[in-house]
Amino acid sequence: MRILVVGNGAREDALSWRLAQSPSCEAIFSAPGNAGTASRGANWEISATDGKGLADRALREGIDLVVLGPETAIAAGVGDRLREAGIAVFGPNRSAGRLESSKIFAKRFMERHDIPTAKAMVVHSLDGARNALAQWRGGVVVKADGLAAGKGVIVTPSADAARAVVTDWYGSSKIPGGGLDVLLEEPIAGREVSVFAICDGRAIVPFAAACDYKRAGDGDTGPNTGGMGAYSPPAGLPDDLDARVRERILAPLLRGLLAEGEEYVGVLYCGLMWNADGPHVIEFNARFGDPETQVLVPRVGGDLALLLHSAARGAMDLSLATISRESCVGVVLATSDYPRSSTPLRALNPDISLPDGCQAFWGASTLVDERVSSGGGRVLTVTALGKNLDEARSRAYESVKGLAGRLGSAALTYRTDIAADPATWRPGKG
Ligand code: AMP
Ligand code: GLY
Repeated sequence: MRILVVGNGAREDALSWRLAQSPSCEAIFSAPGNAGTASRGANWEISATDGKGLADRALREGIDLVVLGPETAIAAGVGDRLREAGIAVFGPNRSAGRLESSKIFAKRFMERHDIPTAKAMVVHSLDGARNALAQWRGGVVVKADGLAAGKGVIVTPSADAARAVVTDWYGSSKIPGGGLDVLLEEPIAGREVSVFAICDGRAIVPFAAACDYKRAGDGDTGPNTGGMGAYSPPAGLPDDLDARVRERILAPLLRGLLAEGEEYVGVLYCGLMWNADGPHVIEFNARFGDPETQVLVPRVGGDLALLLHSAARGAMDLSLATISRESCVGVVLATSDYPRSSTPLRALNPDISLPDGCQAFWGASTLVDERVSSGGGRVLTVTALGKNLDEARSRAYESVKGLAGRLGSAALTYRTDIAADPATWRPGKG
């Protein structure tokens, strides 16, 4: 199979790495790709949101399968363009992708189909938000409707604090993502877990799960980020997690998609809060997570490419891939200004090779004259497998220390507590 991975982050580097090892993979390409994907096949200089450009080139190159990485590609309708050109795509079309690209669409969908989620009100103006908050008791999660690159959700402890957020958003006309619509949501307590389900348009099954660390600093302090680390499988959650997610979330979701004529093909990321009442959906993403993918794919055996191709063709065969019982821990190395800004780094050492079972993946970057230029922000994800979480964690941090010295840049920081205490870990509160 000739495979194209769309995107340029560490998630796409990890997908390309595992897909390239699939027995069925003949050649792998990336668009636009990064310094890591460049070592496996050509990087096409085409933006991840340029559906026409990607479809034209994929036809010329005889691509058999396209895997969509970022939400921006899905929201731009890249899946629709590729399917119109007759190309198999793992990733939803724009309409089904609204489960991620519009939080209001997703909330209404969950309400219509009885999927457990936090109660929320939708407002369209500062006056509307103030009215809604006048009667509010307790904390408020303020969510911008559209895609906002991780900046559109603020967890606040009170209606007063939420009022300050919406006053700022509406007052300065800077609602993250650019729209006018905002959700005011009740906080749900519990443990956060990300479940990745694969859907071929007719069936949906849980594939793997991971826990993500969203705050910038140790002990879940500091601002929210795209994710500073992750581990898989999750610890301290019920053994029948898959069965309960199927019953409470995936079954009603699939019934709803079919009833509404939405064909969802790809991975559905269910961001869940788990408490005594079971799982509740905090968010859906229409794609693999970053950095969760970096800790999922090292556990995948068999032929991931064939599995994704079977789903893209509408006849998913889960027996084509396996998930090992090992644990995997991933630590993100970021520039110290992240997430406020991202200082680019130049002339990094491209040699990020690690011992067996450990693997590092590049974030947005390019290879120039045998050195790596990074866009900054999340520069690398360093992962390690182990027979249990402790072993995976200590191997991951050993690798981080080795690599941090070798990269040729002192400016990188990372969290030191990824997977350190998963039994008591709770997501931070705003
Ligand atoms: P999101 O960008 O939708 O992933 O939200 C960012 C983070 O906000 C999540 O990972 C949760 O930790 C938190 N969050 C979002 N919605 C809720 C909620 N209803 N209750 C508690 N925490 C939430
Ligand atoms: N790690 C969270 C995300 O990919 O959205």
